[in-house]
Formats: sequence, structure tokens, C-alpha cells
Amino acid sequence: MAKNRRVFVCSDCGTHHPRWEGRCNGCGSWASVAEAPVEVAVSKTGSTATATDLPALEDFGLSGCLPVPIGFDEVDSVLGGGLVPGSVTLLSGEPGIGKSTLSLQIAMHAAAPGASVVLVTGEEAPAQVAARGVRTGEIPRSLSVLDNTSVSEVIATLTEAKPQLVVIDSIQTLRCDDVDSAAGSVTQLRSAAAQLVNMAKALNVTVLIIGHVTKDGTLAGPRVLEHLVDTVLSFEGDRMNSLRYLRVAKHRYGSTTDVGVFEMTGQGLVSIRDPSDLFLVDRHPGAPGSVVVPTIEGRRPLLVELQSLVNQSHGMGAHISTQGVPTARVKQAMALLSRYLDVEFVSTEVFVSAAGGAKVNEPGGDLALALSLLSSIRNVSLPANLVACAEVGLAGELRSVPHMERRLQEAHRMGFHLVIVPESAPEPPMGLRLVRARSLFGAVEEIQALSA
Ligand SMILES: Nc1ncnc2c1ncn2[C@@H]1O[C@H](COP(=O)(O)OP(=O)(O)OP(=O)(O)O)[C@@H](O)[C@H]1O
Ligand SMILES: [Mg+2]
Repeated sequence: MAKNRRVFVCSDCGTHHPRWEGRCNGCGSWASVAEAPVEVAVSKTGSTATATDLPALEDFGLSGCLPVPIGFDEVDSVLGGGLVPGSVTLLSGEPGIGKSTLSLQIAMHAAAPGASVVLVTGEEAPAQVAARGVRTGEIPRSLSVLDNTSVSEVIATLTEAKPQLVVIDSIQTLRCDDVDSAAGSVTQLRSAAAQLVNMAKALNVTVLIIGHVTKDGTLAGPRVLEHLVDTVLSFEGDRMNSLRYLRVAKHRYGSTTDVGVFEMTGQGLVSIRDPSDLFLVDRHPGAPGSVVVPTIEGRRPLLVELQSLVNQSHGMGAHISTQGVPTARVKQAMALLSRYLDVEFVSTEVFVSAAGGAKVNEPGGDLALALSLLSSIRNVSLPANLVACAEVGLAGELRSVPHMERRLQEAHRMGFHLVIVPESAPEPPMGLRLVRARSLFGAVEEIQALSA
């Protein structure tokens, strides 16, 4: 038995309303709310099935969840081995960051002989996609292109073709003919994604969907797709810089802790095996304001150089400019130096940067940040082979941070001999000397003793 009830839905933001409204109270749009029929199933008879008629969970085993390698090592490793057949992955990122390049390279790797891969391109003409493909490598014969934006037609073609992998570039360009709103609206996105998920499960086709995010990081149409898909990948970076990070925001088949690091080049995205090397390559060891910190990206330790430049200015307050480091952390480091070491930042210009386009926004960078500011304002160099790693609490105390052992190993591997850490830090690898300190003040005293 089914009972119809009336539901009104905004075609712009998807908000449900119990009655018709002239203006949507979800997004404020006028005349966007319309009735949508909803079938509510109400069983009057009840089911006669018992628990023993249902399939046992253990009979399903693991076979449906094993990843198949794409052949693009950096992406496979982020995904925990590859893409699971029949799974749906959303690759999101800001406009121009390199989503089409990454997904094309994934498609080209996956289109090994015997496999069939389809690229649905609603955004670019096939010739444009081919030009990018030629720039990045040899386009395999088994990679086909489908230049169509109608979801029903795309699904009909894919049902015939039954490829192993489908790449949709992008979900914002698809339109469902039965949905009465513009392509890219929330209702369109949700409907298109739901139909693609159903197709993936029914045909056991792996689907990679590209979605644009807006500047504030939300998938255009407030993250409506994330709960529908199995995996959400986020492709990030600074467009002024060639480094790109592939992060897993959600993964139904594996961990979300690994990060892929790439460089955008004329030949497409190239995996960076040793990011620490890249960040430190042109460093001037011993320059005032320069301190190296072993950060953690996902599970991967990365050595990054923090640089500060503190100059006198004619203004009254402190002017702060940062790159790759949150301004709030810089302000906190300045406040700690002011309180516990009597450092005066009035009438100064403070510039802080994580060199090479890296990002340090975790507490493990606190001590290095404070030492870097202090080194610059006092124009005193720190020991060239020194690495600093600790969170600094508001009482000026040094606190341990996660994955300390991995960070110390990376510092050792990159040839550093001296690490300043909180008292609770684990024993270091052979050849690495730890200087333990209880507080920011204590850390500065220890460094002064080393330099004396
Ligand atoms: N010849 C080249 N050499 C180096 N980098 C290039 C070259 N051509 C393009 N790029 C880089 O690739 C980026 C565009 O990549 P791509 O088209 O994959 O991004 P996208 O995220 O799909 O963009 P959109 O939002 O427009 O779909 C450019 O911003 C540029 O950084
Ligand atoms: Mg694109």
C-alpha cells in the first residue's frame, strides 16, 4: 500500500517545506518552491519474512570490497590500493586546480589493454581533452570519450558499453531531463549523482565524479553529494604554486589518513616521492628567521622550512602577513613571545611563510614558528642543523604532538642532527640528538646554551 503526501521542494537548494512558500526559507530564493510528489510506503499487512530467511552477513565475505589498482601509484596509495569495482568516488577541488588533468591521467592509467574506460566530458570538447592527453602521455585505444550532458542518455550508453571505469567531468554540467531546474542546481546535482550511484551498483561499474568546490571549500550546492558516494577525494593546492595534494575526506573502503603529493608540470601531474627534499632544496641554513619543522601530512612526515621576517614599521600596531601558516597561529606565537620572553612586536611588520608553497597548520609547528619569529626579530641565527617540533600551550609549556617517532625519523633521514622537543618525546633514532625542554622559555635557554 502506498500513501501520497504533499511535499514542496526548493529547486535551488533542495530544502523541503511542508507547504508551498513564495520564498524558500533555506536559501532565500523567490518562486523556487514547487510541489514534488513523494511516495510513502505504508504496509498494512506486515511481512511474513523471518530473520532466518535473510542472507547471513558472513556469506558476503570481502570479495566485493577489494581495491583494483589503477596503475597510478600515488593515487593507488592514497586510496589504499586502488578503486573498488562498483564504487563511486567524488573528486572535488577549486576551479583550475587540476581535476580534469588528474582524472584524465587516472583514466589513461586505468585504460590498460583489455580494460575499457569512458570519459564523459560535459565541460570540454573531446579535442581539448585529447590535447591534454597527448601532453600527459600516450592515449590508450581503450579510453573512449562521451560528449553528452544528459544523465539518461549517458546512463543508457554506459549500460550498453559496460566499461570498467567511467569518469564524469563534471557533475555540475549534467542535467536530468525530468528535474525542472538548471544544470548545476542542488536538485540536479543530487538527482544526477543518485542515478549514477544506482548505475554503478547495478552494473558494477566504477565511477569517478568530478565536482567543483567554491572558494570557501564547500562543494557547490552545500556538500550535497558527499553522503551519496563511497569515497570523497579532495584535490588541493595554491594556484600560484605547482604543488598539489590529494586528500581522502571520506572512504567507505579504507583509511583517510594518506596524502598524495604532486607537481603540476607541462606533462601533467608528476608524483613527488620525496616532498621534504623539494621543500628544503634551496634553503639557506642558518639564515635568521629560518627554522625547519617536521610536519605530518596525513600519515606522511614532511620537513618544511618556516621563515619569518620582522621589520620595524611606522604604524602603531603589528602588521601580519602569512603564507601557508594560519594567521591565528602566528598571532598566538607572538603573544607567547611577548608574555614569556618580553619580545615587543609594537610597530613591526611581520611576514611568515612556509617555504616552497607548503602548509603548516598543525600544532606541531608552534615551537618552530615562535623560534623563527624570535630569530628574525633578534637577528640571530639558529643552529643550521636544528629542527623544532612541539605544540606550545598558552602557559608557554611544550606539549607532545602525534607521530613524533615518524617525524624524528624523517628529520634524521634528511640529515638533521639536533631536534628540540617536549620532555615527553620518545627516544630518537641513532645519530639524532634530542634537546628536551619543558617550556618555550626553556627551549630558548637550551638553544642559547648550544650556541654559546
Ligand atoms: N602546459 C602547462 N604547463 C603547466 N601547467 C599547465 C599547463 N596547462 C595547464 N596547466 C595547469 O593546469 C591547470 C588546469 O588544469 P585542469 O584543467 O585539469 O583543472 P580543472 O580543475 O579541471 O579546471 P576547471 O575548473 O576549469 O575544470 C591550470 O590552472 C594550470 O595550472
Ligand atoms: Mg576541468
